[in-house]
Amino acid sequence: MAASRFTVTTAIHYVNGPPHLGHAYETLLADVLARAHRLRGDDTWFLTGTDEHGQKNQRAAEKAGVTPQVYCDGMVGKFRDLWRGLGIEPDDFIRTTEPRHQGVVRAVLADLHARGKIYSAPYEGLYCTADERFWTEKDIPDGRCPECRRPVERISERNYYFRMSQDQAWLVVEISEGRLRISPETRRNEVLGFLRKPLEDLCISRPRARVSWGIPLPFDESYVSYVWFDALLNYISAPGYGSDPKRFAERWPAQVHVIGKDILTPHAVYWPVMLHALGLALPEAVFAHNWWLLDDAKMSKSSGNVVDPAALALRHGAEALRYYLMREMPVGTDVQFSEAFFDKRYETDLADNLGNLLQRTTQMIVKSGHGTVPEAGPASADEGPLSEAGTALRARYDAALDRFDTQGMIACAMDLLSGANRYVERTTPWTLAKSPASAGRLKTVLSYLAEVLRLASAALEPVVPGTVQSIRERLGIGPDGARDLGWKPGRLAGAVVRHGTPLFPKRSP
Ligand code: MSP
Repeated sequence: MAASRFTVTTAIHYVNGPPHLGHAYETLLADVLARAHRLRGDDTWFLTGTDEHGQKNQRAAEKAGVTPQVYCDGMVGKFRDLWRGLGIEPDDFIRTTEPRHQGVVRAVLADLHARGKIYSAPYEGLYCTADERFWTEKDIPDGRCPECRRPVERISERNYYFRMSQDQAWLVVEISEGRLRISPETRRNEVLGFLRKPLEDLCISRPRARVSWGIPLPFDESYVSYVWFDALLNYISAPGYGSDPKRFAERWPAQVHVIGKDILTPHAVYWPVMLHALGLALPEAVFAHNWWLLDDAKMSKSSGNVVDPAALALRHGAEALRYYLMREMPVGTDVQFSEAFFDKRYETDLADNLGNLLQRTTQMIVKSGHGTVPEAGPASADEGPLSEAGTALRARYDAALDRFDTQGMIACAMDLLSGANRYVERTTPWTLAKSPASAGRLKTVLSYLAEVLRLASAALEPVVPGTVQSIRERLGIGPDGARDLGWKPGRLAGAVVRHGTPLFPKRSP
């Protein structure tokens, strides 16, 4: 596949609490996609950050008894530290309180206002302060916010609106014809369903008297920007919109915005219309992942049912946590967090399937007296299934990567490793080692096993980069060599193998 450009972003996280497993999952997913594309040779850029304005953050600061800025500065440190601890390496980290972002938001607001795309109008409606959004009477049969179930307030005020209705038909065509790819399919249908109802203009201001922690509107300082209008612009402020045209042209449009399914409408409807109004290209794809659940409910700060990823990393290791999160979440369905499943995955996939094969292979190569990966002799029927799986891996892996399906990417490696474990049982290299007559066969078997480990590692590298580094050292492959996804037994012939302690030691029951 020809190398190309890959810009990947995550949602920017609210800082009204420390990051939980859902945030870690999303940022990790983007990190894995970025690493996979980098390995493919693509010019890759990975952006994440924090969404610091608005009522949620303002309230959290009030509760903590500090100014919003002090509060945000403290919380952002927790996000950055966690990403570092999990081996997440973004190329840029944007905070919406940074001048480089605020300047872009104000310039965009001024531009859209000057061109008549933003207008002022009176409004009366039902307002949820926690979610910072208005609802209509028909949304609220029982006086409570449909999202957070808190009581709503009746509010009457003048506000500013962004014109969206005139772009509805255009957006439907962009999505239907795949120029804006909403993935997976169910989410695309959801957006198209939403767009069958008339699209209303978006209220983009909040009176400062009510929400003071925000970016003032350049044309009316008694209002601040609605937090979503501000936040979405991070995707263009970070790559340098309005300040660095060269860098901006290199990084925009994004190839994919990675987001959770709960924030699909802002990304698949408001954001494309905002970009259209600015005359900018749309992102190529919006990928909406599912949720981590705890006790059948969405893990969330407001409900307090969260799992702390830092504690999990401490207990299981960051590499095992990366593996578990990327392996467990399928495309299109929610998943329960469970320590018991985590332990099971660790044992079956990491300790047994991968770890055991590595131990057996390095031990046999060292013990059989060569200490280096032998040349492969002629293949027999025994090697058939392994060669088939090895040869098919690249296409299968690339297809999974293009679907943003880390479970599928991992399955390519794990299936190959399971096949190799069966191959070991079938060929019994320890028996071959006993007879000089089968020395040739033994060499072939060991050489095939080394190639399986090399190829499976290459496929796993975006998910468990540290582990793969250790495997490569054991197999005598330099840090940068032989990372491609092509199947070629014998290519490691001569590499000096080292046997060591298990990378994922078995845990006592
Ligand atoms: N600040 C907004 C996004 C603005 S993007 C321009 C926001 N922040 S958030 O902190 O509430 O959520 C950030 C991301 O984490 C969202 O994509 C959300 O879907 C994701 N997750 C939050 N809880 C989650 C789970 N329980 N499981 C998986 N991801 C979820 O929304």
